[in-house]
Amino acid sequence: MINVAIMGHGTVGSGVAELLINNKNRIDNAVKEDVFVKYILDLRKFEGLSYSDKFIDNFELIANDRDIKIVVEVMGGINPAYDFVKRCLEGGKSVVTSNKELVASKGAELISIAEKNNVNFLFEASVGGGIPIIRPMTQCLLANKITEIKGILNGTTNYILNKMIVDNMDFDAALKLAQDNGFAEKNPAADIEGHDACRKICILASLAFGKHIYPEQVKTEGITDITLEDIDYADKLGFVIKLIGMAKKSNNDSISASVRPTLVKKSNLLSQVNGVFNAISVTGDAVDEVVFYGKGAGKMATASAVVADVMDCIGHLDSRKNIYWTDGSKSFVKEFDQKTVLYVRASALNYDSLVGSLKNAFGDIDFIDNKQANEIVFLTCEDFESELNKKISTLNADSIKVLHTLN
Ligand code: HSE
Repeated sequence: MINVAIMGHGTVGSGVAELLINNKNRIDNAVKEDVFVKYILDLRKFEGLSYSDKFIDNFELIANDRDIKIVVEVMGGINPAYDFVKRCLEGGKSVVTSNKELVASKGAELISIAEKNNVNFLFEASVGGGIPIIRPMTQCLLANKITEIKGILNGTTNYILNKMIVDNMDFDAALKLAQDNGFAEKNPAADIEGHDACRKICILASLAFGKHIYPEQVKTEGITDITLEDIDYADKLGFVIKLIGMAKKSNNDSISASVRPTLVKKSNLLSQVNGVFNAISVTGDAVDEVVFYGKGAGKMATASAVVADVMDCIGHLDSRKNIYWTDGSKSFVKEFDQKTVLYVRASALNYDSLVGSLKNAFGDIDFIDNKQANEIVFLTCEDFESELNKKISTLNADSIKVLHTLN
């Protein structure tokens, strides 16, 4: 018998418990073991469930139980998850987590502790919910030198932007719908300010490039400044606005990492990813581009990835999975100047002077002329970002909004 403990009975934790219990026959047959949920740790009481007898509120019961071989951490946040996970690994228990905050900030350390104790630390569900992405990157794509990862990594913001685009719904109403559907984090700031997507790009980039990339090294911008007007302008230019996480390696091995609202050309596959769905594009030197698509959030989709990791741990109780990166350094991530096209929305009370400065800076360029709102909107030519920014800074504008684009 393999005894499992689950720490946390929120949205994901309850999904994991239900899946392990309801699909027990299938799971047992697949791993050729009797997989038994022994404890569920939560301070709250859950009466009336078929498994209400499994709840405990004292972590020490798990830490001190030598029969527990695998612990699922689905509490979220750093405290107390970090201490609990560390103690489980040090105690010779494999840990499976969906906690991207934990992996993005403590991943290198926890991987190293797992290695020292010859146990596994698996986190498939920490990126892309139910989408297989960690395992493909650490197995199927292992022969490649990864040069770029980009994608839609947050279901809540994609859902909100999609509601704004398709239903002309305002931001607050769309956020409330996302929360009602259980997609949003408890604190929606993590989603709408881009932190959740930032943590996910950190995990993917650390895996791809071999050293820990920390959240503070990623330029992160959320979607709170995106208005229905931006959505409408983007549409007129042939684009949709998406929150894109990206990590890229230059020819001289510099790494750039960002999360920002981006105008994605309507012909790009990522522009078609709607609602709570996520899509992650990985480019490798041998395979070229592969794209992973699926439900990036939600109780059972995420539980699916967690339980698969539990099953993988059972298959590797005496060996280690090759999921690895080492501690990073401040200089590992370095923004490098890249050729790009920028979206610029500029307004000025002195509209004629603004238009004159546009012509001086960018020559005879097409622009959306919204004289009524004293506003112009245009896409720059393609050039190095530093050059484009120099030109943009010469515009006679009272306010300027600049967004990146993706063709
Ligand atoms: N709040 C996250 C999202 C959940 O919306 O994508 C999954 O990480």
